[in-house]
Amino acid sequence: MKAVVLEKTCTAEELTVRQVPLPSVKAGWVLVKVKGFGLNRSELMLRSYEASASYIQLPRIPGIECVGEIADSSDSHFSKGQRVVALMGGMGRSFDGSYAEYALLPVKQVFAVNSDMCWQHLAAIPETYFTAYSSLFECLQLQVTDTLLIRGATSVTGLAALQLAKSIRCTVLASTRKQEKRALLKCHGADHVLVDDGNLPEQLREIYPQVVNKVLELVGPATMEESIGLLVHHGIICATGVLGSKESFAQFDPIKSIPNGVYLTSFFSNYPTQKIMDDIFNHIQIHQLQPLISQVFSLDDMVAAHLLMESNEANGKIVVMTE
Ligand SMILES: NC(=O)c1ccc[n+]([C@@H]2O[C@H](COP(=O)([O-])OP(=O)(O)OC[C@H]3O[C@@H](n4cnc5c(N)ncnc54)[C@H](OP(=O)(O)O)[C@@H]3O)[C@@H](O)[C@H]2O)c1
Repeated sequence: MKAVVLEKTCTAEELTVRQVPLPSVKAGWVLVKVKGFGLNRSELMLRSYEASASYIQLPRIPGIECVGEIADSSDSHFSKGQRVVALMGGMGRSFDGSYAEYALLPVKQVFAVNSDMCWQHLAAIPETYFTAYSSLFECLQLQVTDTLLIRGATSVTGLAALQLAKSIRCTVLASTRKQEKRALLKCHGADHVLVDDGNLPEQLREIYPQVVNKVLELVGPATMEESIGLLVHHGIICATGVLGSKESFAQFDPIKSIPNGVYLTSFFSNYPTQKIMDDIFNHIQIHQLQPLISQVFSLDDMVAAHLLMESNEANGKIVVMTE
């Protein structure tokens, strides 16, 4: 089969497709015929530097998510030809992932799809909508009466969160670092756009003197303490992204940094379930949402696909189709 194989950390231009043996099925694992997959920032991090970490065994086929059909159901409850999505749980890091024509995956990371959505649209869903949906509705307990700030809103996760939050009609303030992306966020339904230029709290108070009671933090520890300070009493902030390139705090004093009665939570996409996948597809269907796709590439175009992700100009999910 064709696959992209990481031998070491590399640049986007060094990604190549080659022939590798089809993996052999084993108990507890299923073979998926990959139809397509979305690109993720964590794959950019893997190829840029994380591949040199001792816990990553090389060579490795990257790719933390895919959509496809069961090619060999092994000892699982799946049947051959069944439509599935798969994500996370070590996919593309601890075991080979989706940048290939077939993927051998643990049954617990594979989920049935009861939707007749086309493969391209389906490929834009798993990791992005799982992250956005769960951050909003499980972690932030988002309600129609809420005022939500999405920090890092032009990311595909941010845009999906904006779409989902507006689908239940709550008020959304969305941030970007770039003036020229105001229109993009307005066009996706943001009630107010804030330019994250170092003066976001001042802008917020000026254009929206009312209160923010939920924050989806996608920039991460670089801006999180400031975001916590924007919340009203009983407000909730969810730490989901690390776009600001700072992944953790060297020093964080929770007693002094989190005001009384403000709640800090976080989301980690490592533990998807069939129930949450069903909830997401139901929500998408009920609200007639169109998955947000930037561009579609073929497996042979991985260099261009990764360069687009690196450019920060995708403004939607980058999808790769295997055929
Ligand atoms: N917790 C989890 O389990 C989980 C799951 C999925 C994703 N994530 C994380 O969520 C974040 C978003 O992922 P994604 O795939 O949606 O990202 P993406 O689409 O690749 O994000 C692109 C956007 O990132 C913004 N950006 C880039 N560098 C930045 C910086 N230094 N400071 C602020 N913004 C910056 C740019 O926005 P502007 O140029 O408009 O400012 C750009 O539009 C990532 O940190 C990712 O690792 C976490």
